Amino acid sequence: MFEGYRLFYSEFRNNFTTTGAILPSSPLLAKAIVLPLLQRPARPIAVLEVGAGTGSFTHRILRHLSSGDILDVYELNPRLYTFLIKSLNRAKLSEKGIHCRLHNADIRSLRKRIQYDFIISGLPFYTFESQTVSEILEIYLEHLSPAGVLSYFEYILTPEFKSKFLSPSERDRLIRVAKTIESFVQKYQYSSNEVWLNLPPAKARYCRKITAGMAPSHKKDRSFVRSLLTK
Ligand SMILES: C[S@@+](CC[C@H](N)C(=O)[O-])C[C@H]1O[C@@H](n2cnc3c(N)ncnc32)[C@H](O)[C@@H]1O
Repeated sequence: MFEGYRLFYSEFRNNFTTTGAILPSSPLLAKAIVLPLLQRPARPIAVLEVGAGTGSFTHRILRHLSSGDILDVYELNPRLYTFLIKSLNRAKLSEKGIHCRLHNADIRSLRKRIQYDFIISGLPFYTFESQTVSEILEIYLEHLSPAGVLSYFEYILTPEFKSKFLSPSERDRLIRVAKTIESFVQKYQYSSNEVWLNLPPAKARYCRKITAGMAPSHKKDRSFVRSLLTK
């Protein structure tokens, strides 16, 4: 475990934009992010995890998988990917009949026609360009089955906190990202959970392609865009 923390921290220092966090997600955030899997169908399912890092979410996802299920994992960083391979080898997945495929690649290279029942994203959207965020959210929608669920998280307060100390161009980037995320959340989010025991604290968001008839939960959220624009 400590080896994973040390590696993650060193990748945070070397590749801040893609790593996006100082430490791996806490067990409580991992638990929150996989919550939709508690209601998985009884048939074999396909799950996509994006931005697995050292595997905080991966190992939690695996607790909900069984023989016949598929888990595709995308991790861009080669050092984190190598760490992940080793830790998943220890989990003896093929003996359990779970088809786990690890890809050391950018999620934007996903070309499979497969549709996933669950997509779990660990990407740090607020360190990306808004164009990248749009592209990735589009890929998620394209590969989510009609009744599928997408979970992802954001760090609470990070955009507002950062906006106080940023250059105008960086602040503009942040506003563009916030707008992209807010419009996605307005359309697709059906629920969310705040997790304060994480560094930094985070919000897990749950989205579906079809939200008609569901009570939208985003109305309770503070609008990052509004708070940024009024500063
Ligand atoms: C905030 S870390 C989260 C890691 C892990 N899920 C966790 O919660 O501890 C984001 C991870 O996404 C990976 N990543 C960033 N951009 C990516 C991309 N375009 N495709 C795949 N992985 C990416 C980074 O290398 C990093 O490991």
